[in-house]
Amino acid sequence: MSNKLAGKVAVITGGTSGIGLAAAKAFASEGAHVYITGRRKPELDAAVAAIGPKATGVQADSTRLDDLDRLYEQVRAAHGRIDVLYANAGGGGMVPLGEISEAHFDDTFNRNVKGVVFTVQKALPLLDKATNGASVILAGSTTSSMGTANFSIYSATKAAVRNLARSWVLDLKGRNIRVNTLSPGPIHTPGLVELAGPDQAQQQGLLDYLTGQLPIGRIGQPEDIAKAAVYLASEDSSFVTGIELFVDGGMVQV
Ligand SMILES: NC(=O)c1ccc[n+]([C@@H]2O[C@H](COP(=O)([O-])OP(=O)(O)OC[C@H]3O[C@@H](n4cnc5c(N)ncnc54)[C@H](OP(=O)(O)O)[C@@H]3O)[C@@H](O)[C@H]2O)c1
Repeated sequence: MSNKLAGKVAVITGGTSGIGLAAAKAFASEGAHVYITGRRKPELDAAVAAIGPKATGVQADSTRLDDLDRLYEQVRAAHGRIDVLYANAGGGGMVPLGEISEAHFDDTFNRNVKGVVFTVQKALPLLDKATNGASVILAGSTTSSMGTANFSIYSATKAAVRNLARSWVLDLKGRNIRVNTLSPGPIHTPGLVELAGPDQAQQQGLLDYLTGQLPIGRIGQPEDIAKAAVYLASEDSSFVTGIELFVDGGMVQV
């Protein structure tokens, strides 16, 4: 590693699994101190142990505003600033039109839109204090750029996220806070395989189907996204703001 994030203070929501955990490991190995969140305490403790001494875990649900206040108060007291914020917590399930319940709609929009909005808004006072400008990364998805059967609500939340980045770049003009959307294609994480339910054969079927959709010929790994997150977090991307960076094996590029 090349210490691209030396001395930076980073917060990654949903850092206990999948993409968020891989990004937290990469940020720490590049020299950042990383705060990670998650709702489940045992998974949070295990992730902090796996990342090592440069990690702090804060049990927090991004949809609960008092949890976000507690998270940022802890960061403020210890470090006084945030240099990198990766609003990664999110997810969703597959439900076809005709069966969309109010609970499915509210849960998906709360996790992927409300959670992202308040994760970023409440961090602004600490982002303003970043050492050399701040980087905010929003978790998008290729699903926002295509139709996917049974996935309309999740996909709509990710289309909303894409616009949040465009509009916030204008709201934050002149404040030295960059905002970019990082949009993965299919990445082999617990969140992805669980879309197929608990049956392992069905999970493998989903992975095989998705692999067949990908020009690059393989499913993505969390580390593929972590490398792109390090780029957006670091000064390598110092003139990059408002973009959607696709890391998708070509899924929506052809
Ligand atoms: N995997 C893919 O193929 C893919 C593709 C495109 C976009 N994405 C996006 O990438 C992000 C990460 O996905 P993943 O596949 O890595 O998911 P994952 O394996 O299910 O991990 C999700 C993480 O977020 C946490 N989390 C979920 N809801 C939360 C909440 N309300 N507050 C705080 N933490 C929460 C989870 O921990 P707890 O459950 O303990 O809270 C866990 O740490 C998501 O935004 C997802 O939509 C994933």
